[in-house]
Amino acid sequence: MTANSRAAAAEILHKLLQCEGSLTGHLNNIRDRDDAAFVQELCFGCCRWFHLLQAILAQLLKKPLKGQHDELHCLLLLGLYQLRESSKADYAIINETVSACDQLGKAWARGLVNGVLRNYQRNRQDIDSKLPESAFYSHPAWLRKTLQQQWPEQASQIMANANRRPPMTLRCNSTRQSRIDLLRRLEQGNVSGRPGQWAETAIYLDQASNAEALPGFAEGAFSVQDEASQLVPDLLQLAAGQRALDACAAPGGKASHILESEQSLSELVALDSDARRAERIGENLQRLQLSASIKVADARDTGAWWDGRGFDRILLDAPCSATGVIRRHPDIKLLRQRDDIGRLQQLQAQLLDALWPCLNPGGLLLYTTCSLLRQENEISVGNFLERCEDAKYEGIAADWGVECAYGRQLLTGDETGPDGFYFALLRKDQGR
Ligand SMILES: C[S@@+](CC[C@H](N)C(=O)[O-])C[C@H]1O[C@@H](n2cnc3c(N)ncnc32)[C@H](O)[C@@H]1O
Repeated sequence: MTANSRAAAAEILHKLLQCEGSLTGHLNNIRDRDDAAFVQELCFGCCRWFHLLQAILAQLLKKPLKGQHDELHCLLLLGLYQLRESSKADYAIINETVSACDQLGKAWARGLVNGVLRNYQRNRQDIDSKLPESAFYSHPAWLRKTLQQQWPEQASQIMANANRRPPMTLRCNSTRQSRIDLLRRLEQGNVSGRPGQWAETAIYLDQASNAEALPGFAEGAFSVQDEASQLVPDLLQLAAGQRALDACAAPGGKASHILESEQSLSELVALDSDARRAERIGENLQRLQLSASIKVADARDTGAWWDGRGFDRILLDAPCSATGVIRRHPDIKLLRQRDDIGRLQQLQAQLLDALWPCLNPGGLLLYTTCSLLRQENEISVGNFLERCEDAKYEGIAADWGVECAYGRQLLTGDETGPDGFYFALLRKDQGR
């Protein structure tokens, strides 16, 4: 990869537009570079504002570039992003973006890049005023329209929040210390924060920082986890002696919280179909000095992983569109397609059907997603209830989120609030 930060960011963006890998994965590969933080900022910002920047670029180019989504196209978007968002002087941004052409092996495009960026610098107000209002939401059209249809009153705020930087939230390991003690300890290390509103373990840091460098990380005093996810153990109504299953457990965020919340479970089985991600469960549990039975298998194939002994509690934190966490993973806007939703809904239905027989009579299954889309949430749950006779819906009484036909939905919060997240609780009949 090239040494120039902007060219490196253009290469990453180009890969994402080819649907190659994820932003987190690509940034992980460059984390040893001196300019890693800057490349990350460029990539995050450009993904966040991608659809707006595309609309601007379309106005600036007399005709579309030949390679619609090649590195040069990405470099132009990065230049526009910086002209809009960076505090650096415009001339420096333009000069440095023009220089990146050489690193990309596109020295011939220096004049073009210079011309396009200077044009925007001079005529920004006029160009912006010609854009349709929808461009400023900076979301793919299919997702914007779906949100506007499904959440007509909230869609504008949801999209505005999805374009903000997310807060950094910690989960206090309450087996080690109280939240107030952890806040004091952080304060002594010059890290300030405030308690979350809904989860008793949540702490919002006033400023994001490297978690590993915070006091207490190595010894497991806390984990990094959004407040929405921290609501899970309470909803599961855990008690000593129960056998629990986390069916889609990697990297182990909720599994470790379950173990911290109830230390006398008879067993927690932490299952995931992705072997590499499942390794992270072990690493996280080790740091927190917790243990679970970690299994790698497709949860739908119960013959491959289930020993036939029932579970009292099942968490199905299902794979989903992740439309509730776009502020943390803005590349979702580039990678997720409308057609993915039906495929995900089918997978969610198959997981519910396969896991239900593993639940003991009287037991609870908590279905969660980080999606805002009703197809993956209340519709998935409603369809399951229709086809499963011994499943009973249990309402969630809470002072957070929006009550849906089935389940409760948190909509993407601002810098002081949780991610978009969905929860539904199902109980299995006691039988006769
Ligand atoms: C939303 S993530 C889970 C996050 C995790 N619960 C946590 O809190 O750290 C969904 C997980 O489902 C896993 N997954 C996807 N399809 C699966 C399947 N058929 N069986 C088991 N796990 C699956 C993915 O590998 C991914 O790790």
